[in-house]
Amino acid sequence: MKKLAAGNWKMNGTMAALAEVSALLEAHPDPACEMLLCPPATLIAAMAAQARGTALKVGAQDCHPRPKGAHTGDISVPLLRDAGATHVIVGHSERRTDHGETDALVRAKAEAVVDGGLTAIVCIGETEAERDSGKTLAVIGTQLDGSIPGGATATNLVVAYEPVWAIGTGRTPMPSEIAEVHGFLRGRLRGLIGGEAEKVRILYGGSVKPSNAADIFAIPHVDGALVGGASLKAADFGAIVAAL
Ligand code: G3H
Repeated sequence: MKKLAAGNWKMNGTMAALAEVSALLEAHPDPACEMLLCPPATLIAAMAAQARGTALKVGAQDCHPRPKGAHTGDISVPLLRDAGATHVIVGHSERRTDHGETDALVRAKAEAVVDGGLTAIVCIGETEAERDSGKTLAVIGTQLDGSIPGGATATNLVVAYEPVWAIGTGRTPMPSEIAEVHGFLRGRLRGLIGGEAEKVRILYGGSVKPSNAADIFAIPHVDGALVGGASLKAADFGAIVAAL
């Protein structure tokens, strides 16, 4: 299985930021891993045009569960696909917190992604209070069970484990803690989707940067990363890509 370096630009990036993509493609024309950037929706079409014929794929950060209709301000999977997206992040903790997204809504969105022929990156992760009270595995197990789409395969599903307390904080779990969670998730996936689970990529996300990427990628069942802040600059994201 090829590892996946996915960058989530969150609510950052104007057209000028596409210069970073040019620099990334120039420095890493043929990476050993798969390379994906998820810019804000306003940049998807332009970035996808820029990425055409290269090793870079372009994704979205969210979608509406319905394919079309009267939903002002929302973006459906068919619209994202038309703009050139191949992946859609769903259930990011910032959406779960900022917009009250539940596992049921995340699953509906993930199913819309799969039905639309794209790949869903389903995010799960515990808060600091949940970790401190020993509930990490129970929380992420429940999130996984409730969020992954029906008909999930290694092609249409990626799971991203992102401890909420590690996002944008510069703090990461210990390697043994990441190993415990990723091993747990692999086993849980086996129970949910059988043998296909061996090939589903399980990404780690939360303060991944060039200085810790190689150590994190060496952990069993870590099949890549979902990178926030460090994906905004070609030099940083390129160094992470090179570590995979
Ligand atoms: O989607 C990405 C994650 O939220 C990680 O963000 O790398 O800035 O900690 P971060």
